[in-house]
Amino acid sequence: MTTQDMRKIVSTIAGTGSYLPAKILSNKDLETLVDTTDEWIFTRTGIRERHIAADGEFTSDLALEAAKNAIHAAGITADKIDLIIVATTTPDKIFPSVATMLQRKLGIAGYPAFDIQAVCSGFVYALATADNFIKAGAAKCALVIGAETFSRITDYSDRSNCILWGDGAGAVILCAAQADMHSKEGVISTHLHADGNYETMLHVPRKENGQDTVLMEGNAVFKMAVNTLDQIVDETLAANGMQKSDIDWLVPHQANIRIITATAKKLDMSMEKVIVTVDKHGNTSAASIPLALDVAVRDGRIKRGDVILMEAFGGGFTWGSALIRY
Ligand code: ACO
Repeated sequence: MTTQDMRKIVSTIAGTGSYLPAKILSNKDLETLVDTTDEWIFTRTGIRERHIAADGEFTSDLALEAAKNAIHAAGITADKIDLIIVATTTPDKIFPSVATMLQRKLGIAGYPAFDIQAVCSGFVYALATADNFIKAGAAKCALVIGAETFSRITDYSDRSNCILWGDGAGAVILCAAQADMHSKEGVISTHLHADGNYETMLHVPRKENGQDTVLMEGNAVFKMAVNTLDQIVDETLAANGMQKSDIDWLVPHQANIRIITATAKKLDMSMEKVIVTVDKHGNTSAASIPLALDVAVRDGRIKRGDVILMEAFGGGFTWGSALIRY
């Protein structure tokens, strides 16, 4: 057998889905809560509005709606799913995981289901994990989700912080396929990193009253995010022997338009090739990348065969990227 005859397992995105809660919190609404302005928020972050989960609506509820949409888009039924990974920092309960709750809500049981907690990098971590399960032959059809209710850990009296966060969920169905050994199909490569030395720059410490909320040194995190994302772009391209021009779409974590613009500049990419949802969604942490992906797939910008670079940076610090042929 020649190497040309040899085949490998790859994981491909069979379908995407997303869900946003109905309630919208605009910058104007925030003006009534804290000393801020629509102009300050939009100029510093690119955010105009964000969605907020209703009372009694939890992360697993958002995840379920996103999952149903992805399952429908993939043209499968839930019983085909043999792995569920949910990236979240805001689970319904300390345990059990959102993934097992979601499994029950989907009416399936038996196969592995678990959560991953890597804050804003969570979806890239979850996708990399599912990709490795599939490539190892341990799963054939994974449901990979980023879902968050960050509004529940937001202090709405902290103006430097509460303007950022939103709630939502995004999902992909990742399926095993056969490809030529040297082809670059499906998930081409993933790159994950962490450095726990920065714990207190962005964290949610436990409070005695149970009102645990996000604390962030925004400016320091901003600078670290820009520099680190620069490096992960280089790492991802070098690992695949690819050029900046080989990337069709950047689907970044939606933390701040200024961070997104800096990464696009690093890639010599026009903003028309960058999927931006931060204006409408805010920072939905682990949900932001799959939400943005689903928006661009559904509006027809991202097409089959396009090469997508996903990248994220978040609490921990954690950071990572995924290069995918859609
Ligand atoms: N309205 C008006 N003024 C404000 C507001 C507000 N909402 N918030 C802060 N300010 C003021 C500050 O008090 C400060 O005033 P001063 O100069 O008189 O002291 C001034 O604006 C500047 O404050 P900075 O914090 O320096 O503002 P900056 O330009 O850094 O923007 C922001 C803040 C938006 C938080 C930005 O730093 C940021 O986006 N950081 C990165 C966030 C991120 O990427 N996080 C990682 C992923 S998230 C995750 O993993 C959970």
